Amino acid sequence: MSFWQGLARTKSVDSLIHESEVRGHKLSRVLGPLDVTMVGIGAIIGAGIFAMIGEAAVGASSGYPAGPALVISFIITGIACGFTALCYAELSAMVPISGSAYTYSYATMGELVAWIIGWDLILEYAIGNVACAISWSSYFNNLLHSVFNLDIPIWLRIDYRSFLQKGFHLASVPHFLGIPIIFNLPAVLIVAALTCLLIVGIKESARFNSVMVLFKLAILAVFVAAGIHYFHPGNWVPFAPGGWRGIQVGAATIFFAYIGFDAVSTVAEETKDPKRDMPIGILGSLAACTIIYILVTVALTGMIPMATLRENVSEPLTAGLAYNHAPSWLVGLISLGAVIANTAVLLVFQMGQPRIFFAMSRDGLLPPYFGRVHKRFKTPHVTTIWTGVAVGTLAAFCNLDEMANLCNIGTLFAFILVCAGVIILRIKDPHRHRPFQAPGGLLTPILGICFCAYLMLGLGGLSWIRFGVWLVVGLAIYLLYGSKKSVLRSTHLPHLG
Ligand code: ALA
Repeated sequence: MSFWQGLARTKSVDSLIHESEVRGHKLSRVLGPLDVTMVGIGAIIGAGIFAMIGEAAVGASSGYPAGPALVISFIITGIACGFTALCYAELSAMVPISGSAYTYSYATMGELVAWIIGWDLILEYAIGNVACAISWSSYFNNLLHSVFNLDIPIWLRIDYRSFLQKGFHLASVPHFLGIPIIFNLPAVLIVAALTCLLIVGIKESARFNSVMVLFKLAILAVFVAAGIHYFHPGNWVPFAPGGWRGIQVGAATIFFAYIGFDAVSTVAEETKDPKRDMPIGILGSLAACTIIYILVTVALTGMIPMATLRENVSEPLTAGLAYNHAPSWLVGLISLGAVIANTAVLLVFQMGQPRIFFAMSRDGLLPPYFGRVHKRFKTPHVTTIWTGVAVGTLAAFCNLDEMANLCNIGTLFAFILVCAGVIILRIKDPHRHRPFQAPGGLLTPILGICFCAYLMLGLGGLSWIRFGVWLVVGLAIYLLYGSKKSVLRSTHLPHLG
């Protein structure tokens, strides 16, 4: 096999399914359509709706505010995710193993693209979690403030850039060897706590998840009710202060709020009837969240003028309530909801990331060291610890918008590759049994690609540069390591088709 042929080598779908069975991990099929939808909502609702909605509405970093027209942004992004969701549903019903976009692409587009997706998913899972941890910290402080009237010193709960942006002075913080000490301690602590929990191992129970989901939904319902109470039509003028560009940039920014529906595909092996339950779970959770997001956006933009919201974009929901002098128990309740919602999302993604590294290591694309399993706890502890260290360190020093937008661009790119995977598999392997087929022929994946590309164009130049650097580093690692050590290179599995 030549070097170039090697880059395009694929795993066959049959061998993937076979591998999952012989590994002795045949999971029991216990989840029904409602459980699967709940898994999706559990992974979706987090920092996006509790934090990024503020930046999208006022455009503090991008300079392009969506304003109340953010409801249109949510619809556009919902449609983009809808097309991608149909593609995910087709792949996950056809390859019903607990993989991810990484596994699907190994079967369709070859090892190089699989590596790129796996590398890219780090942006979705790990960098997304950095953003969630930062948002967790903001609302945690809010909770302490509204319930106990306690405040963590600002230099211990913020990043350097946001500190300066908010107009604080470096002279007011402690220094060590002349260096000002500013970092986000609560964000580090929540990541450390969850990492320890995940090393010991938790069994994600569908029932526990459902309780958390119902709690999140109840909190957001309370916020919407408050929004109706405090609604002031004057806040909706002007409706679209940033014009169409503001709506596009807003759509790209709040894409973060939708990330997570793809996590539904990871429980494909545990659903009673993937053909029916995967599409219902993926599309159902997406539809439910789109409706909830639109209601929350109407409530928020109707209760606070955009100029006031600009002063406190990192905790927009409680800022809206505080502006209307809502009782402190209500502010505390919404903060608690945000803390719990972010914890749930952190847990799902902090669990997912090490498993992707683990799969890549098993395939020989990362060193075997990353594939180690803890003797006693039977968890991928090495990758869990490294994920925790990386996420915790970045959460200590980085800015919420930067991290969320980097996560957005990486995930949108992964979604484009998943849609492309559907097209390739339809052409290469047209007769394979597809328990669920995305309707509309090739139009659905093509529209999915176009919409995701459109959203990527709404992200700023810095996000593109960071993303480009990330891909180049990833390619270098693949060429220096993975391409030589790949397990598939030494075995000769039959190719697809
Ligand atoms: N959609 C997830 C969130 O908003 C990532 O936190």
